[in-house]
Amino acid sequence: MARRSNLKVVEIPQQEADLRVAENPIKKCKPYNDIDLNNWKDYSNVKTDTLWLFPSRDKSDRHSNEYHGNYIPQLAEQFFERFTKKKDVVLDLFFGSGTSAIEALKMGRRCIGVELKPELAQHVAEKFTPKELVTDVNIISGDSASEEIKDKIQARLDIMGEEKAQFVVLHPPYDDIIKFSDRKEDLSNCSSPEEFYNMFEKVAKNAYDMLEDGRFAALIIGDEYKNGRCEFLSFFCEQRMEKAGFIPKAVIVKDIQGNERAKGKTANLWRYRALAGGFYIFQHEYVFIFQKDEKARKKYLKMMEKQAV
Ligand SMILES: C[S@@+](CC[C@H](N)C(=O)[O-])C[C@H]1O[C@@H](n2cnc3c(N)ncnc32)[C@H](O)[C@@H]1O
Repeated sequence: MARRSNLKVVEIPQQEADLRVAENPIKKCKPYNDIDLNNWKDYSNVKTDTLWLFPSRDKSDRHSNEYHGNYIPQLAEQFFERFTKKKDVVLDLFFGSGTSAIEALKMGRRCIGVELKPELAQHVAEKFTPKELVTDVNIISGDSASEEIKDKIQARLDIMGEEKAQFVVLHPPYDDIIKFSDRKEDLSNCSSPEEFYNMFEKVAKNAYDMLEDGRFAALIIGDEYKNGRCEFLSFFCEQRMEKAGFIPKAVIVKDIQGNERAKGKTANLWRYRALAGGFYIFQHEYVFIFQKDEKARKKYLKMMEKQAV
């Protein structure tokens, strides 16, 4: 004979029950984003392959093409959706015209930007309201390769109620392809690629120190032709990121149509030079994705040590 339960059964009308389920959906998210893996098919806008083609630059909101050398906002959108949660703090150590901050605000994230040129930092601050500059965007004018910059970033993080940043964007000058200033601290003002890599490594180390464990960083960079050879700025900088402690997670090839200004008459000249000089005209740059994962790093270093014995 079936035992009768003494639990009281509360009957909820069907419609009300449906509503309760809708109010309390069980989300399955990674600790570093808001993507609900239970509904992963809803995120067709989030890229998961390694070839990124963007036919044109997003010019909505406060984004513009006014700064020669700025990155396209769609990159920031991809990074933030995939690797940040709402209210997270993004740290951009080559802030330029503030693309990261504009996109961060649009997506309900916050941003700290470091830019070497004070006049540019001042100009970019004018893109934001006084309220946004208190609560969501912090702009520091300084040298991202210096030791002192970490204290300045930490002070801003403290104000924002965070111990560390939750994502890092690194979009350095591509050596001296575009010269941003005459300042000696400017990475576009180095006397040789080796000096550029050494300065970049200092920025990478600062980035590592300021990032929360378990979180991600993106490096956007292209290569250059110099002294009759192809200088792989991208892969040398990638190596410096690893030296700073980052774990490589992905390399993405991105077409540069969207960021290029019209080449106009010089297009033919470049084609002639390419044919005559035995090289190819760049149509791509790279996006490298890294993670800070102290546990995995220690394990990897131990394994390498064992192999060396
Ligand atoms: C490629 S641009 C970044 C553009 C930016 N992602 C945007 O979308 O506007 C590189 C920027 O790094 C700045 N820069 C160069 N050396 C620096 C340094 N040591 N510390 C901080 N910023 C630096 C340059 O002034 C320039 O604005």
